[in-house]
Amino acid sequence: MRFSEAVKLRNVWVAYSGSDRPAMRNINLTVPLGKLLLITGPNGAGKTTLIETCLGLLKPYRGSAYLFGVDTRSWRIRYARRMCGFVPQDFMKPPFEAYTVRHVIRLGFAPYKSIFESLTEDEDKRIRWVSELLEIEDLLDRPIGTLSGGQQQRAVIARALVRKPKALFLDEPFSSLDKEGRRLVSSVVRDYVNTENASVVIVSHDVNPIIDYADIVVKMENGRIVSGEDYA
Ligand SMILES: Nc1ncnc2c1ncn2[C@@H]1O[C@H](COP(=O)(O)OP(=O)(O)OP(=O)(O)O)[C@@H](O)[C@H]1O
Ligand SMILES: [Mg+2]
Repeated sequence: MRFSEAVKLRNVWVAYSGSDRPAMRNINLTVPLGKLLLITGPNGAGKTTLIETCLGLLKPYRGSAYLFGVDTRSWRIRYARRMCGFVPQDFMKPPFEAYTVRHVIRLGFAPYKSIFESLTEDEDKRIRWVSELLEIEDLLDRPIGTLSGGQQQRAVIARALVRKPKALFLDEPFSSLDKEGRRLVSSVVRDYVNTENASVVIVSHDVNPIIDYADIVVKMENGRIVSGEDYA
């Protein structure tokens, strides 16, 4: 199948159950392949709601959302989602979490293989590739719960990248990273977009780490897109 866009939202409204006002109102957005899109805006603007709607984790009550051409209400959405990587906003692992970093990254292959199967040579190579990219190769055998917040953040980004997704969604990926980590993650995702012709969607309330790397900047406020709508 060939696509020119990863995501298309058409007049999308989303509400949380029990809430009397919509969290997203009349959103139109297209995420083309080969582009890095930044979604920004203040706390409560609707950024997480938007990224989860793109992935079909939240469904519109009005309008339509498509991921790789599949309506997110369709049962086939799970196949479209396999082409994606996602790092949610709250990624922190508790201190007693015993999985090693290698194991956590390996979970990125989960849709394709069970944890009881041994890795192929290519999968082993890919784990090495992402851990070198994110400069965590020395941490591979450490339990993830013993890592610092910024080290954990790099590990979960590695997990999302290891399956070479056609679309990568990162919700506040810079929150625990220092200046060097922010620069590294920004340049890694930029190179990934260029070499794989993939789409990357980054939500960040702070635009500084990524603004120079983004192709498209969409600003949200109060459940609406207030600038960048020309990419609808
Ligand atoms: N589970 C929920 N139930 C009810 N309302 C929710 C829920 N999650 C979010 N909301 C509301 O939806 C709106 C948008 O929230 P969202 O989490 O998308 O904002 P955000 O832009 O990601 O904010 P932040 O920068 O703090 O992460 C807010 O008004 C919030 O209170
Ligand atoms: Mg959020």
